[in-house]
Amino acid sequence: MVSIISSRGDRSLRSLVNLDEGLIAREIYVNEGIYQQELEQIFARAWLFLGHESQVPNPGDFVISRMGEEEIIVTRDRKNVIHAFLNTCRHRGMKVCRYDDGNTLVFTCPFHGWSYDTDGRLVGVPHHKQAYHEELDKGKWGLFEVAQLANYYGSLWATWDPKAPSFEDYLGVYAPTIKWCFESSGGEDNGVELFNPATKWYIPTNWKFPGFSFDGDSAHGAMTHRSVNVAAIGPQGDLQGGSRSGMRAPFPSTSYEMQLPELGHGGHNFMFEQPGTAEYMDTWQTEPPEVDAYYREQREKKQARYKDTYLHAGNGGTALVWPNVNIQPHRILIWHPHGVGVTESWRQYPVDKNAPKVVKDAQRRYMMRYGGPTGLTESDDMENWNYAFPASLGTIAQRIPYNFQMGLGHEFTDERFPGMTFCYRIAEANQRARLRRWIEFMEAGSWDDIYPVHPKKNTER
Ligand code: FES
Ligand SMILES: [Fe+2]
Repeated sequence: MVSIISSRGDRSLRSLVNLDEGLIAREIYVNEGIYQQELEQIFARAWLFLGHESQVPNPGDFVISRMGEEEIIVTRDRKNVIHAFLNTCRHRGMKVCRYDDGNTLVFTCPFHGWSYDTDGRLVGVPHHKQAYHEELDKGKWGLFEVAQLANYYGSLWATWDPKAPSFEDYLGVYAPTIKWCFESSGGEDNGVELFNPATKWYIPTNWKFPGFSFDGDSAHGAMTHRSVNVAAIGPQGDLQGGSRSGMRAPFPSTSYEMQLPELGHGGHNFMFEQPGTAEYMDTWQTEPPEVDAYYREQREKKQARYKDTYLHAGNGGTALVWPNVNIQPHRILIWHPHGVGVTESWRQYPVDKNAPKVVKDAQRRYMMRYGGPTGLTESDDMENWNYAFPASLGTIAQRIPYNFQMGLGHEFTDERFPGMTFCYRIAEANQRARLRRWIEFMEAGSWDDIYPVHPKKNTER
């Protein structure tokens, strides 16, 4: 039994997560001991988002990423193979790379000068002959590499656990959804690149406030984002009401909360009621006309490619890949833990890699005013999470649970999408699915306990 020890008595983690009644103890968001267990049980085990191959296009390129609290160097070696290493010297732990990105032949540690090739091999040790008497086996002291790395249609993911299932199995029936997210707007595989550098900032809240609610909390929109909606934050300025959701094309669709209850992934989604994708409607009217012209042409390509496919997510939807990354059509949100009450928030913005500059510039300007620390929409969200954390910390506050009951017991299935459940478009089913996977990871002794998933064990309790 996995427990927490506190002045309120020793209790099992399971007793804090009551999914039958939708009642979740606040401790799991604010307790330091639980947070430390998360780093071991979740972040040292799950598949985590690293970035995109477009960030390291040439041999010798590198970019810094994170897994949990720790820095990762993503490199492309001289043979064009991408690697991910812990950013720490094998000698005495110094960061071997202190730049966010660049190109190099070797990483030379600033402390005593050990040097590592871009494939991680230790290739230089000062005084190797005189001081180490050539007895140090350099072959054993290369940079520490992730256990598995996946390049999924250009997106890069890694896990520290050699027993984790493949990334595609980790996604389960969500795999096509994530593939679509990394297609160009015309539907070409691996069709995007990311603007560099990533935007990074700290927010004073637990990582699960954003991680487990983003793309799973439609209820907050009308209240939290009221001012942004009035200010007309959409790409098209204040035309047609200034909707920030983009132009809704005249194509029959239903908006749902969609979740994989066994794997924890899910998001807000539009499920089209007919195969294919809709006619393009102008969306960028306040930008040069080439922008809408480009996207209209792309849509025609996509219509041809997907005329027989029912689409969701990536095509009018948003997706959380459990535990801490949201993939949206124009925005990737990563919630790195950085202490029980600090989240290191990263934003990366995909754009069609073959788009003309005028399109990329329009996209960049839109995301700067929409997302990230300066974006009007995310400022609204941060205000809530940053106050909810300290307001949940108090002795009395921790006696009362959070309410996750919205839509409880009203999930349904759709034969077109096996393995997923659906809810009315405003629900907390996604948040419950994420918490269900959370308790399974926190209790598991190894991947053997959590994969393959056991449908009976994991159904809504
Ligand atoms: S810590 Fe890197 S060479 Fe000593
Ligand atoms: Fe929001």
